[in-house]
Amino acid sequence: MSVNKEVKRITTNTLQKMKANGERISMITAYDYSFAKIFDAAGIDTILVGDSASNVMAGHETTLPITLDQMIYHASSVIRGVERSLVVVDLPFGTYQGNSKEALNSAIRIMKETGAHAVKLEGGEEIVESIKRILAAGIPVMGHLGLTPQSIYKFGTYTVRAKEEAEANKLRSDAKILQESGCFALVLEKIPAVLAKEVSESLLIPTIGIGAGKYCDGQVLVMHDMLGINTEFKPRFLRQYLNLHEQVTKAVKGYIKDVKDRDFPSEQEQY
Ligand code: KIV
Repeated sequence: MSVNKEVKRITTNTLQKMKANGERISMITAYDYSFAKIFDAAGIDTILVGDSASNVMAGHETTLPITLDQMIYHASSVIRGVERSLVVVDLPFGTYQGNSKEALNSAIRIMKETGAHAVKLEGGEEIVESIKRILAAGIPVMGHLGLTPQSIYKFGTYTVRAKEEAEANKLRSDAKILQESGCFALVLEKIPAVLAKEVSESLLIPTIGIGAGKYCDGQVLVMHDMLGINTEFKPRFLRQYLNLHEQVTKAVKGYIKDVKDRDFPSEQEQY
């Protein structure tokens, strides 16, 4: 019997049991009530209210501009659509890097004002004090290593991270530190599959990959990418399950035509 099917609600413990049981974890991003409700009912294990909302919902080039208030708005909408999935919310850029007290205050606001179940922070050793302080307040933390989009101006490019030994060694060490500090899971973004395999096998907590290959304990995709809403972004790691852009365009064109032709509304569609 799968661990996922046994439980009424997915918790951080469920994810850890899934890893121990060799059961893969599915995660997808969501930013609003309606999609969250569909994903939850479809049986997704985890919903990430990602700061990628800054890109796909607000149209910014990077994740940096999104604010804590905006993340809280998205997360509280998502939570209203969810009955079973574990909901994790990104702490946005500038709300946790300053000091651990600020990090705790930001995490508390997310938990109190949204009803979400956990927070996610980008980074390793540099933010471990903040992670420990958030955890000490009883708030579960998911880590995020590899390509961390909040540091895009430091990296200068969205290419694969940790290809060189020095960066790979730092990632190995950060992964251990995050596990030891009490993170319940780690996102590994855009790193070589062999490194993600090694890290996943060396940890007790689950790894959730995006562009990190098939050996991670779970996978995450941004909903706009996998549903084909966003058509410009086609990295090698992305599997597109739908072409919603095409289907929505077709539907809206049909609607425009029906309005112009006075075909909509019909006699049956009026009072
Ligand atoms: O913000 C986000 O969507 C993320 C995923 C890419 C993991 O952090």
